[in-house]
Amino acid sequence: MKKFDHIKNRLTAFPKVKLGAYPTPLHYLPRLSSQLGVEIYLKREDLSGFSPFGGNKIRKLEYLLGDALKNNCDTVITFGATQSNHAMQTVTACRKYGLSPHLFLRRVIKEDTELRANLLIDNLMGADVHYSASREESQKQAEQSAARLEQEGHRCYIIPGGGSNEIGAAGFIDAFIELTEQLSADNSEPDYLFHATGSGGTLAGLLAGKSLSASSVKIISIAVGEKDTNAYAETILDLARRTIASTGIPADLSAGDIHIDHNFYRPGYEMPNDSATEAIHLLARTEGILLDPVYTGKAFAGMLHYIRSRIIPQGSRVVFLHTGGTLALFAEKAITGDL
Ligand SMILES: Cc1ncc(COP(=O)(O)O)c(C=O)c1O
Repeated sequence: MKKFDHIKNRLTAFPKVKLGAYPTPLHYLPRLSSQLGVEIYLKREDLSGFSPFGGNKIRKLEYLLGDALKNNCDTVITFGATQSNHAMQTVTACRKYGLSPHLFLRRVIKEDTELRANLLIDNLMGADVHYSASREESQKQAEQSAARLEQEGHRCYIIPGGGSNEIGAAGFIDAFIELTEQLSADNSEPDYLFHATGSGGTLAGLLAGKSLSASSVKIISIAVGEKDTNAYAETILDLARRTIASTGIPADLSAGDIHIDHNFYRPGYEMPNDSATEAIHLLARTEGILLDPVYTGKAFAGMLHYIRSRIIPQGSRVVFLHTGGTLALFAEKAITGDL
């Protein structure tokens, strides 16, 4: 039996639909690595498919829609900001499986009256889109719509914002094992794994994968919006533990496994900053790869800081999980800033 077969066998028992093209590529970045003195790899979740606008939500949606279909649902309800990548990917995935997508989107930026980027695709695919001013208002609207739809004979499946529950997070156990296998050809693990964290499901799944596979990689998560620091980490650890429990494999995590850095999101979620703009230009101009201003640009800027200030020793092997989101390059100027 191969090293991770016991984990994979448990995961194949979960209902799942096929959306992505896996394994996603792992790219070594030769020019940036020699410029910075570390070995940098990019795990291309942005190329997860099946539309040209992939990203980290595809792995979550494989499990979430699998669960929706198993429960005979015909309608999917989910949440996000107006330029939510998760909402757009949910819409495309729903269309592939004949489910009806309903979005409850809160306005974070004020200029979103023109249909651009993710919001353009949501509308092009005919999603039922409801706008609100806050999470609470979206929640209320969704409850009312779900009650009406159920009364009309539909069966609704509700996906939390970002697809972040233990069903969706299981997708990042897959991702973690896939990455470990890609890197283990020469029998060595990465020293660090960097990524952007928002609703927390990606991190919870990665932590579950790390724990189940007894990996020693240090996961460093760059927050993309304001959070109550301790409560946020606790919620993600709890979700990671529930994700592990859902596999039935005994494993545990400690608070020492989670490292969330809140220093790179300012001035706020969906608001650009200079260090993210610099990171986007740097990767585009040295390696020809695009990042986005809301998630990966800020996380990459965080990683650059750790490398340049030698928090990470020279010569380390570093993986950056590219979680997608590049459609935001075509979003409103309030989001793209001075790119
Ligand atoms: C491009 C991108 N990267 C990272 C994240 C963060 O993932 P999570 O919400 O699972 O923390 C998101 C979430 O929307 C995203 O769209």
